[in-house]
Amino acid sequence: MSIPRTYSFTRYLTAKKSVDDRALNRYVWQSLSAALPCSTAEKPLHVLEIGAGLGAMVERLVAGGLLRHATYTAIDMELTLIAEARRCLSQWAATQGWQVQQDSPVQACPDGPEACPGAHEIHMQRPGREITVATEAIDVAHFIARERGRRTWDLLIAQAFLDLVDVPTTLPALLSLLRPGGLLYCPITFDGGTVFQPEIDPEFDRVIEACYHQTMDQRLIAGKPSGDSCTGRHLFAHLRAAGAEVLAAGSSDWVVCAGANGYPADEAYFLHFIIHTVHTALAGHAALDAERFAAWIAQRRAQVEQGTLVYIAHQLDILGRVPAFLVATRE
Ligand SMILES: C[S@@+](CC[C@H](N)C(=O)[O-])C[C@H]1O[C@@H](n2cnc3c(N)ncnc32)[C@H](O)[C@@H]1O
Repeated sequence: MSIPRTYSFTRYLTAKKSVDDRALNRYVWQSLSAALPCSTAEKPLHVLEIGAGLGAMVERLVAGGLLRHATYTAIDMELTLIAEARRCLSQWAATQGWQVQQDSPVQACPDGPEACPGAHEIHMQRPGREITVATEAIDVAHFIARERGRRTWDLLIAQAFLDLVDVPTTLPALLSLLRPGGLLYCPITFDGGTVFQPEIDPEFDRVIEACYHQTMDQRLIAGKPSGDSCTGRHLFAHLRAAGAEVLAAGSSDWVVCAGANGYPADEAYFLHFIIHTVHTALAGHAALDAERFAAWIAQRRAQVEQGTLVYIAHQLDILGRVPAFLVATRE
């Protein structure tokens, strides 16, 4: 592919699917499967996914047979992503032989459709299985404020999400949405490793990596800390501090390289998007000579075109559980 002139986050998330499929930790996935309670039509599993993007995890769980009877609430702050998630999911389910029915703006929104932009429900049915997916465009903080003490879920999923927020304050609030004994699954949680190979200049490569991670550590959203470049490893202690136990953990590194036929699927675009992200994050950074950094970016782009760039991001998948005896005293 030629170097993109514009960048689309929707296309990036679509391209990310095949990278995630390879990366997800099988042991943690199997532990999740084993820990999920049985569901029936009368007692469906209640799942909440925050920062759901295009809904790739819904597809994965349904295809993997982890959801049989379930209500799945998928939220994301971006209305365009939620709308696209709904479109992709309905289309995917229909091609997989599910009977699909879509509801107009929903009853699922307790405060009426105007209060819940993008709120919709998709009903998927096939013999012995019934899944309802409710989608909504909403900031997770607003969602927590609205739902706390109102509803609880059996499983909360946060894929590639927790490294974008302030975990010490967000995690306890998220856990309060789980029923006692409920599960928290956090796959693809960034953990402080960004590797581009081959090396261009080992010293300069290292400075770029350090500065890039620093932008995550120093990120402020609405004046509040919102990120940690080592979220994965820090999550163990945060979970413990919030009263949850870790049931399983393992690495889920992204490893992207070209084969004889180039990069798989749309992964060349994925790489260009990652380079664009690094470029945008570090443009004008005081520790980087602007000309040298521009040349570095151009070289990385050329490596994608030549199929020589290897990209590795270190990440962790973590499965946690809140105690079965936990009651509403948690903050
Ligand atoms: C890195 S993407 C991951 C998307 C999806 N989980 C995946 O792995 O494909 C992070 C997602 O979180 C959403 N997001 C970020 N901050 C959010 C917030 N405060 N509330 C709700 N969604 C948020 C973004 O819009 C984005 O779709």
